[in-house]
Amino acid sequence: MIRILASVLLCCFCLSATPYAVAADEPGCLDCHEASENPALHAVYQTLHGNLAGGGAAACTACHGPSTAHDRRGRRIAPDISYGPKWISSLEERNGACQNCHNDGDQMLWAGSEHEQDNIACVDCHSAHQPRDPALDQTIAQAQCTSCHAQVKAQLHLPSRHPIAEGKTACTDCHNPHGSASDADLHQVTLNENCYSCHQEKRGPLLWEHEPVTEDCALCHAPHGSVHDSLLTARGPALCQQCHSAAFHPSVPYGAEGLPSGSSNRNLLGSNCSNCHSQVHGSNHPSGARLTR
Ligand code: HEC
Ligand code: HEC
Ligand code: HEC
Ligand code: HEC
Ligand code: HEC
Ligand code: HEC
Ligand code: HEC
Ligand code: HEC
Ligand code: HEC
Ligand code: HEC
Repeated sequence: MIRILASVLLCCFCLSATPYAVAADEPGCLDCHEASENPALHAVYQTLHGNLAGGGAAACTACHGPSTAHDRRGRRIAPDISYGPKWISSLEERNGACQNCHNDGDQMLWAGSEHEQDNIACVDCHSAHQPRDPALDQTIAQAQCTSCHAQVKAQLHLPSRHPIAEGKTACTDCHNPHGSASDADLHQVTLNENCYSCHQEKRGPLLWEHEPVTEDCALCHAPHGSVHDSLLTARGPALCQQCHSAAFHPSVPYGAEGLPSGSSNRNLLGSNCSNCHSQVHGSNHPSGARLTR
């Protein structure tokens, strides 16, 4: 009797020596993967994932599978789901492990997303064994994005730009890297809704609308950056002349027709279209039909 009591006490002592509650039928992951041997591995207990399945070694199996054979043989047989460096499970298995729990909210449209189709893994951006997931740190996340998206990286340093490189706007303010229902993985259903979410004043309603503005801001603006002022895709008047004919109008001096000799034409003096048509996004002025006021 005393012996039994002693062994129970001893057992309790063992238990309290480990920082996690150890259940009787628990896998032996922590016997071999000891904290002292690999402290970096045990940083998982500083994250929300440390408590999965009740914590302790059960948490390990939440992402690596029950791994019964590996649990017995260690070095020889791979865990059920492994992310490297020694063994690598298929992409489907690795992503599937995360998706078992993260398949709603922002992650709901992962299947079929650009990143999923291009064989990107959740853990290309995320990590499980770091105290703070790198993707949740805006600076690191941006570096992750631009390490693959080199063209966007270059655009971030053009003279006119959204303050992304400056850290005031994040890639993920506009994009959902897990996929979305719109083009370019935007959070909003349309590109214009994305712009309105921060530039509310452009939404209107306006008495006099300019058709391309209500249709698609990107007809005139490059969202990441541009060599032209105000993120414009071209300089005025060329910007406007993509759609508007030069004939019979102030824009004539810019056309092939050349300058009327000796002209002091008001149109020539007001060189850029927006000098007169200053309300290019639309107007609420009773006589703003031509977007001049
Ligand atoms: C008997 C000792 C032992 C037990 C128990 C054990 N492992 Fe391992 N595990 C090892 C060894 C040894 C390695 C390293 C293999 C190598 O690098 O040669 C390893 C490697 C791993 C790896 C890395 C795989 C890779 O590709 O590098 C993971 C993940 C892992 N174990 C998870 C687990 C999980 C989860 C459990 C509990 C279900 C567990 N282990 C139980 C001994 C063990
Ligand atoms: C939230 C999911 C998750 C949990 C929980 C988890 N792992 Fe991992 N594990 C991963 C991922 C993902 C990697 C790949 C490296 C990374 O992203 O941090 C990994 C890598 C490893 C490796 C290889 C690391 C290396 O550099 O050699 C071992 C060993 C391992 N895990 C064991 C464990 C053990 C033991 C536990 C329980 C204490 C555990 N894992 C809990 C997801 C998880
Ligand atoms: C067994 C369920 C489960 C598995 C498997 C799992 N997670 Fe989680 N994860 C959670 C829970 C629960 C939370 C905390 C609540 C929440 O934010 O949803 C969480 C939180 C997170 C967070 C936010 C962390 C924070 O600090 O806010 C990230 C990122 C994440 N998980 C990524 C992953 C990735 C990547 C994998 C695969 C390697 C994975 N998870 C596997 C259940 C799981
Ligand atoms: C291309 C990089 C990338 C990939 C791939 C990726 N994520 Fe994320 N994930 C992020 C970033 C960045 C955030 C932070 C979001 C933010 O700042 O709004 C995030 C946030 C999260 C969160 C935190 C909660 C939330 O919704 O904000 C979870 C959970 C998560 N990701 C799970 C996953 C899972 C599961 C996968 C794979 C199916 C995955 N992620 C693939 C970059 C990625
Ligand atoms: C202010 C919102 C906004 C921010 C911030 C933003 N983007 Fe975009 N991004 C867009 C819009 C809008 C499009 C779609 C452009 C189009 O269809 O003409 C786009 C398109 C893309 C594309 C598709 C290819 C292309 O260039 O058209 C990629 C890749 C991309 N963005 C990556 C990024 C990365 C990486 C970051 C952070 C460094 C980022 N974006 C920041 C709004 C944004
Ligand atoms: C491991 C490389 C990698 C990382 C990291 C990465 N991407 Fe991608 N991304 C791709 C590939 C490959 C595609 C599909 C081909 C393409 O359109 O460039 C893609 C597509 C996209 C698209 C859709 C483009 C379209 O035409 O619809 C957007 C938006 C995007 N990524 C944004 C991001 C953001 C934001 C991040 C950071 C959170 C990020 N990516 C991180 C590789 C990556
Ligand atoms: C997440 C918020 C956010 C979203 C979404 C957003 N913007 Fe911006 N935008 C900003 C910020 C912040 C600035 C800088 C304002 C400043 O410096 O005063 C800015 C500035 C601008 C400028 C002026 C740039 C300059 O050089 O003066 C233009 C043009 C612009 N945005 C267009 C757009 C368009 C088009 C969209 C949709 C594709 C969009 N924005 C979406 C936050 C946003
Ligand atoms: C027909 C071309 C055109 C379209 C379409 C267009 N813009 Fe502009 N935008 C301009 C021009 C030209 C300027 C610079 C002149 C100025 O300041 O009005 C500008 C400037 C801006 C500015 C910076 C100055 C300011 O007014 O705050 C923002 C922000 C902006 N646009 C947002 C948007 C948004 C949001 C949309 C879509 C709803 C949009 N633009 C659609 C031509 C356009
Ligand atoms: C993508 C094509 C496109 C671009 C670029 C464009 N516009 Fe327009 N604009 C239109 C359309 C379409 C209408 C509506 C025409 C109609 O109602 O007959 C319009 C209408 C106008 C009107 C009012 C005409 C009327 O009859 O009331 C003015 C003024 C105008 N645009 C000026 C500009 C200026 C200035 C620029 C350059 C900053 C510009 N537009 C760029 C397509 C464009
Ligand atoms: C010097 C001032 C001025 C400049 C510069 C100017 N416009 Fe106009 N625009 C006007 C006025 C004033 C009207 C109204 C004419 C009317 O009501 O008959 C007008 C009318 C228009 C209209 C309505 C259709 C039409 O022909 O009557 C369009 C479209 C237009 N302008 C586009 C442009 C474009 C594109 C540019 C630049 C290439 C431009 N404007 C430059 C003053 C100007």
